[in-house]
Amino acid sequence: MNDKSSNTVWHNATVTRERREKLNGHKSAILWFTGLSGSGKSTVAHSVEEKLHQKKCKTFVFDGDNVRQGLCGDLSFSDEDRKENIRRIGEMVKLFLEAGTIALTAFISPFKEDRQKIRSMVPHGDFIEIYCRCPIEKCEERDVKGLYKKARAGEIPHFTGISSPYEEPEKPEIVVDTDGSVSLEETVDNVLAILKSKGILV
Ligand code: ADX
Repeated sequence: MNDKSSNTVWHNATVTRERREKLNGHKSAILWFTGLSGSGKSTVAHSVEEKLHQKKCKTFVFDGDNVRQGLCGDLSFSDEDRKENIRRIGEMVKLFLEAGTIALTAFISPFKEDRQKIRSMVPHGDFIEIYCRCPIEKCEERDVKGLYKKARAGEIPHFTGISSPYEEPEKPEIVVDTDGSVSLEETVDNVLAILKSKGILV
């Protein structure tokens, strides 16, 4: 990215992340869901958010399909544009960390390097990578949005898992099996238990 904003000076807030966290009664964090299209990222992210909200936590879900209709509506699915998509979301969730929020993201985010970049942009322990593990055959069988069918017919270029790669996380903090072998309720409970063990929730 070209730096066209060099003559700027960072302004420090008096209401700090720590003060916000104290007020909220929980730590802020990034819950970064990654996985194939149709692997259930949005479903799990929104269900985790629902449970956190019921516990009075400050949360927000960034969802790939939604963000691409607005903030990232100018981006395609080329490698380069996916990189930019993830970069923008990374910058956004970094601000949400400062805002004391538990920011949940549901993007395919297929490239290891891009996910790693965001991890390295925030303090250690704040980036929690959650791999929604589901075989492509299963995602394709579900084909909730009918996109796999179109991709197989050659109507969608660079489709993840078919004509564009997905790089599995090597050491995600959490793996959730979204192939139907574990119930959504159990999955959500597991994620919350891990957040507790990490001291994000009390
Ligand atoms: S990412 O690769 O840049 O992280 P993102 O999560 O924002 O992708 O968007 C993925 C969603 O866009 C998919 O769930 C699907 O609904 C839609 N989509 C449209 N075209 C493609 C494509 N070529 N590859 C993958 N998903 C696509």
